[in-house]
Amino acid sequence: MGRLHEKVAIITGAAGGQGAAEARLFSREGASVVLTDLARDGLNDLVSELRQAGGRAIAARHDVTDEAQWVDVMRLAESEFGGVNVLVNNAGTISRQGIADTALDAWYRTIDVNLTGPLLGMKWAAPVMRRSGGGSIINVSSTAGLTAHNDAAYCASKWGLRGLTKTAAVEFAEWGVRVNSIHPGVIGGTTFSRNSAPGHAEAGRRAAPLQREGAPDECANVVLFLASDESSYVTGAEIAIDGGYTAGGTLWMRSKLRDALAAGEIV
Ligand SMILES: NC(=O)c1ccc[n+]([C@@H]2O[C@H](COP(=O)([O-])OP(=O)(O)OC[C@H]3O[C@@H](n4cnc5c(N)ncnc54)[C@H](O)[C@@H]3O)[C@@H](O)[C@H]2O)c1
Repeated sequence: MGRLHEKVAIITGAAGGQGAAEARLFSREGASVVLTDLARDGLNDLVSELRQAGGRAIAARHDVTDEAQWVDVMRLAESEFGGVNVLVNNAGTISRQGIADTALDAWYRTIDVNLTGPLLGMKWAAPVMRRSGGGSIINVSSTAGLTAHNDAAYCASKWGLRGLTKTAAVEFAEWGVRVNSIHPGVIGGTTFSRNSAPGHAEAGRRAAPLQREGAPDECANVVLFLASDESSYVTGAEIAIDGGYTAGGTLWMRSKLRDALAAGEIV
């Protein structure tokens, strides 16, 4: 029996990257999945793939900033699959603007997608999960929600999501709904990494004690654990998936700098 046997899971931003990896893994583990993203193009192929493999999957066009569309997604999940047990608030965007460069439209868009989107998702999913006998919400933050980051809106949104996660964990505990956040570092094979600034991925690899970037499947495995009953006593927690970057990345970099300075390789 799969680890998500008889569970219904909604995954936002599921057209590619981590969301698609979670969709494949959840489906293999027996979940019925509702996959949402801004456009249905990539989603339809993924749904066909999952159905051909024997899974139960459905796609919905969904902008996570639109409250009415969240109501529609809940209705769809309930009418197609009879309830909701898992929500992965995975959809995200970036601004790439420092504080001095921040344009307000980019600020508001990033806060809307990364913070208001998960807020709306929790607002509408938690009561459905309560009626469905309980559930698990996983909010995809970032190492930028644990440290400083050179993108003001992204950093603020991901720190905000971390706080919102703990608030939701307390608020929804009596409904049997657990809420946790994950904090990926540099994850390859995603649109985020493909669009990153020159040197970003390589710097991310070198700054992580494990000396490599992560893969979407490595995030999906942690999300699966949080979605499943195996994590039944875990709520309000934050899990870094970053190759040790936040645990020791600065110490690691300082040691590298010390060695390079001592060797006269840099001044
Ligand atoms: N890739 C990384 O290095 C990295 C690192 C830390 C955190 N994250 C976070 O991981 C999550 C998943 O990103 P990914 O790495 O798979 O990158 P990705 O760009 O491949 O996936 C993000 C998805 O979100 C969707 N999306 C954007 N705005 C949306 C909206 N308003 N409504 C619905 N969907 C929307 C996009 O269409 C895309 O499919 C994001 O929240 C991101 O902030 C990524």
